[in-house]
Amino acid sequence: MKKQYTVGVIGATGMVGQRFLTLLADHPWFSVKVVAASPRSAGKTYAEAVGAKWCMTCEIPEQVKDLIVMDATGDVEKIASMVDFVFCAVDMKKDEIKALEERYAKAECPVVSNNSAHRHTPDVPMVVPELNADHIHIIPAQRERLGTKRGFVAVKSNCSLQSYVPALFPLSKFGVKDVLVCTYQAISGAGKTFKTWPEMVDNVIPFIGGEEEKSEKEPLKIWGKIEGKEIVPATSPNFTAQCLRVPVSDGHMGAVFVRFENKPSKEEILATWKDFQGRAQELKLPSAPKQFLHYFTEDNMPQTKENRMLENGMAISIGRLREDTQYDYKFVCLSHNTLRGAAGGAVLLAELLCAEGYMD
Ligand SMILES: NC(=O)c1ccc[n+]([C@@H]2O[C@H](COP(=O)([O-])OP(=O)(O)OC[C@H]3O[C@@H](n4cnc5c(N)ncnc54)[C@H](OP(=O)(O)O)[C@@H]3O)[C@@H](O)[C@H]2O)c1
Repeated sequence: MKKQYTVGVIGATGMVGQRFLTLLADHPWFSVKVVAASPRSAGKTYAEAVGAKWCMTCEIPEQVKDLIVMDATGDVEKIASMVDFVFCAVDMKKDEIKALEERYAKAECPVVSNNSAHRHTPDVPMVVPELNADHIHIIPAQRERLGTKRGFVAVKSNCSLQSYVPALFPLSKFGVKDVLVCTYQAISGAGKTFKTWPEMVDNVIPFIGGEEEKSEKEPLKIWGKIEGKEIVPATSPNFTAQCLRVPVSDGHMGAVFVRFENKPSKEEILATWKDFQGRAQELKLPSAPKQFLHYFTEDNMPQTKENRMLENGMAISIGRLREDTQYDYKFVCLSHNTLRGAAGGAVLLAELLCAEGYMD
């Protein structure tokens, strides 16, 4: 791998795009050379284009503030020639995003995407680097389909499942059979703040469009296996989900009920979580948390406000593991939706792809 990679952020003026820029500001391997957004922003400096939409708690990073915003759809070839790869987080129609990401890949520019458009494309890896890092080895098959030497698309999964899937996946050795999960999701997941969504103060909305389907279907791809030229989703565990929007700025919590083929003891579950290390930890990737899964013994933990920033918002907090009367066990879990669940997860995936030689 190289010592330094130049990167572009497509959709840089959006909420996830801003998060990318703040995470990349001091990144040891990546430096941002291109910011791109819609034609409405193109041609302006980044600071002008983002204007009052800047919603991070820190200032706009110095390196990007005066960059001229490029046109994400009109300047594909030019952008591809300027960077080693791009991060993508655009708000467009799904088929437009799919086509746009493939245009970058075909221009020999790898895409690490935050968008959902390609999550179920069979030769596109959807990766949580601690869990299914091996799925990136589908990339040669994807390159063959696209007719590229370097270009490909890799995606991260939806933010909702990044609390409970990390907790459940390491328990696969006990045969995870049925999972019922209720998620309590922050407003930043909708790209909103309390300022832009005042109706959410003192409120709960029992519906998030498309979220329950994603929460039930995407885990099966993560549990899937490479067979020939595609990733074949697993047929179990069986997931059922209800997703609620709650008045929280950042941090998605999940309340989980789980049934196993071979019910483990509570001690076995706790030991599995404590000892779990993924590929991201083995490779010591810069954004990887040292301890991926943290178990809290206090009855009233983890709490969203207190624990969402654990290990820079990249670790998963778990608590309240106990036996259940209908399922085998129940527990709660928490992850930061715009860090682990969005931009941070994508940066970690890009680090994995660099370390495994796919960005050279
Ligand atoms: N927010 C989250 O926590 C979260 C989590 C996971 C996934 N996601 C996904 O990430 C993506 C971005 O989300 P977001 O919340 O950051 O959205 P957002 O704040 O609405 O930002 C959208 C970005 O897309 C650009 N854009 C819009 N229309 C475009 C077009 N026609 N051509 C090129 N660029 C265009 C915008 O540029 P302008 O500023 O020029 O309009 C802006 O940079 C979405 O697919 C979303 O579903 C979000």
